[in-house]
Amino acid sequence: MRKKKLIIGNWKMNPKTLALARSNFTSIKKESGTNKNVEAVIAAPFVYLPELSKLSSATLSLGAQNVSAEKEGAFTGEISAGMIASLKTKYVIIGHSERRELGESNEFISRKIKMTLASGMTPVLCVGERERDQGMWYLSAVKTQLEECLAGVAKNAISKIVIAYEPVWAISSTQNHRDASPEDFQEMRIYIRKILSDFVSASVAESVAILYGGSVDEKNAVGFLVAGGADGLLVGKSSLTPKIFLKILKIANEIK
Ligand code: PGA
Repeated sequence: MRKKKLIIGNWKMNPKTLALARSNFTSIKKESGTNKNVEAVIAAPFVYLPELSKLSSATLSLGAQNVSAEKEGAFTGEISAGMIASLKTKYVIIGHSERRELGESNEFISRKIKMTLASGMTPVLCVGERERDQGMWYLSAVKTQLEECLAGVAKNAISKIVIAYEPVWAISSTQNHRDASPEDFQEMRIYIRKILSDFVSASVAESVAILYGGSVDEKNAVGFLVAGGADGLLVGKSSLTPKIFLKILKIANEIK
């Protein structure tokens, strides 16, 4: 288990302007340095990365929200892992449900993971079922995502990957979304570690950070981190208001 909690803000397609991105990033950075037990990251839209990379620091680092599955060449509109890495970007969110919704397959996501690793960055692989069912088929849905996304990834690279469990039904942008509980997360965290353990080894599985994501706010964060045992959080909506994101960082920092 990692010592520092990893708290990643996923800004999605926000904020509206570079000026606002810069000022929000700066506000968070100003206070994030006081949280010694936390690693704070903002995953910003591509177009803001060059400017934010000038502001990023040891206390607030940078992530991207997507990456090309190709290395370089004639791929109009794509952005390579090498380009992203050159902007002091440490993390790349891969396989988010909002991108899977656009048609990204596990095989495609797997190629993105390999590109990200090859560029020295950390992939944050998102997995999560669309629905919970009585028959517990949601467990096998997540298993398939993990196995297919990690297929062909070198076994010694697995410990460099972060897994974010985000049940689609709990994400704030999902229509009629409902809250996941720390117990929902805890069950899945144990299950994900078991899958990783079968895939590589128990000790490697133990070293992989497993985050929770889905409508995290300043009220429920502590539950996922303590009762749920999360190694960190992937925070969407609540990361858009610096004050709220800073509260979440502070909460995570105080957990022993
Ligand atoms: P949310 O988003 O916190 O707004 O639910 C999380 C995510 O989709 O990464």
